[in-house]
Amino acid sequence: MIGLVRNALRRGFEPVERTFDRLFGPALNPLAQLGALGFFFFWIVAVSGIYLFIFFDTGIERAYTSVENLTVAHWYHAGVMRSFHRYASELMVVALVVHFLREFAYDHYRGARWFSWLTGVPIIWLLYASGITGYWLVWDKLAQYVAIATSELLDWLPIFGEPIARNFILTGTLTGRFFTLLVFMHIAVPLFLLFVMWIHILRISRPKINPPRTLAVLSLLALIAVSLYKPALSQGHVDLAKLPAEIGLDWFYLPLYPLVDLWGKGAVWALLGAFTLMMGLMPWLPPLRRAKPALVDLTHCNGCARCAEDCPYEAIRMVKRTDDLPFPTQAQVNASLCVACGICVGACPSSTPFRRTQELKTGIDLPEYSLKDLRDRTVAAAANLKGRTRVLVLACEHGGGGGHLEGVVPVPCVAMAPPSLVDFILSRDLADGVAVAGCAARSCFNRLGITWTEQRFAATRDPYLRARVPRERVRTIWASALEARRFRAELAEFAEELARLPPRRRGSSPPPSGHDTAKAAARTAEETPA
Ligand code: HEM
Ligand code: SF4
Ligand code: SF4
Repeated sequence: MIGLVRNALRRGFEPVERTFDRLFGPALNPLAQLGALGFFFFWIVAVSGIYLFIFFDTGIERAYTSVENLTVAHWYHAGVMRSFHRYASELMVVALVVHFLREFAYDHYRGARWFSWLTGVPIIWLLYASGITGYWLVWDKLAQYVAIATSELLDWLPIFGEPIARNFILTGTLTGRFFTLLVFMHIAVPLFLLFVMWIHILRISRPKINPPRTLAVLSLLALIAVSLYKPALSQGHVDLAKLPAEIGLDWFYLPLYPLVDLWGKGAVWALLGAFTLMMGLMPWLPPLRRAKPALVDLTHCNGCARCAEDCPYEAIRMVKRTDDLPFPTQAQVNASLCVACGICVGACPSSTPFRRTQELKTGIDLPEYSLKDLRDRTVAAAANLKGRTRVLVLACEHGGGGGHLEGVVPVPCVAMAPPSLVDFILSRDLADGVAVAGCAARSCFNRLGITWTEQRFAATRDPYLRARVPRERVRTIWASALEARRFRAELAEFAEELARLPPRRRGSSPPPSGHDTAKAAARTAEETPA
């Protein structure tokens, strides 16, 4: 059932993502930058909030007038800042909602990734608490409505000795001290929110917390435009003697308030409780089957730390050497953080398929899909390739390159395949071209697999693709699981380009049949490194 919802949501996201790809390009696609945008909007809210605080009078009598004054008399700076503060907070809600729906749709929340999901749940509560306390401070009619509705909701819970709603219903009972407490909360809750946001990204390596500059500038320009076109305004001074009649609601922060009148407080609390519980349990509904974590083989580890640098989930630490090899450190895997993506295998300098040994070993390997398995499957897939242009595909199992095409070798992530595997395939004439097929460029399932592959192929990151590898025979294809048709079209185009290339200089002519390729492949796998 949850799987069906997830797939339906994913199908909903895809066309929008592709449209944004066309408009902005994959690197600037806002849907791939939602966490970073969330942080960016937080900083705008924080800076504009500090600015407003200079003009804001925290006393209950003068709070409203001070806000009116900064909005009207100082509209060109403080007024604009007020609008920035409001609209950036609203954009934070948008970023949050779309972000968590997207993480759900792309199945980024189960297995070892439960931590980011679970720490996201209090973020929802804290963001709403920050926004709602903000609306009280203006002390206008909307503030009065929010104050009464919120305190009635809170009074329904058996936490306060005395009902706090009395403060707002009986004229004159609202104390300045209570108001000061609210001001304090509106500062303390966002600070705590920031702390939880920091915890939220602790378990992922190189989290994107700053959007690309162009996207940041575009968001700022949009905020300026909206702030000038529709400045944030108050809705008339509070009158505690009367209940506010007509007020404009903020549908980003206050969508539940009308439900309090409609359904009653108990039902709204039940809804909030059920939502929170459901969100908290999501990573285990159902739990992801977890492949066995990566294992370090000390006899092949020289402590270079490349695996630790490339792991997207902070699952590898470099620790003091425990054997007598002459290196100061060794890699150590934290099994509870490892998602078995294999990126570390592709990063290890010992991962070279040219090795002569029957038991191909490397410094760090996946127990359920070792480097040797990968080489064996590559050789076997190459054996089935026929025709003039034999293309071997190393395909990420999360992208559009899987399927039942001939010559496809599935990998948990494209970056599991060390560049030397591509060299091995071409130099041993197992194929005429190698296509490395991953997820869509905007969203690698394993976060950094596409980036590392591109950098390794461009020789800007170790281990890099050697200069002798003919680049015209290597192609990367980034297509999501729902873009299999585009993948096939790009693959066909690559095959055509290969067919137009002059024949390669080989020791022997290309093998005529799959059977012959198999023999050649089996032979070459056992040869000395080139
Ligand atoms: C405004 C609030 C939030 C901010 C600023 C935020 C920020 C971020 C950032 C920066 C990342 C790292 C992205 C990357 O570099 O790959 C991230 C990842 C993640 N977030 Fe949030 N987040 C927020 C709310 C939430 C919520 C409410 C949930 C769900 C309940 C959530 C679930 C996740 C998950 C599951 C990941 C991990 C993705 C992965 O492992 O690839 N986030 N978030
Ligand atoms: S397989 Fe390697 S790179 Fe992937 S999560 Fe585990 S330790 Fe990190
Ligand atoms: S990349 Fe390989 S050699 Fe380097 S530290 Fe990791 S396991 Fe050891």
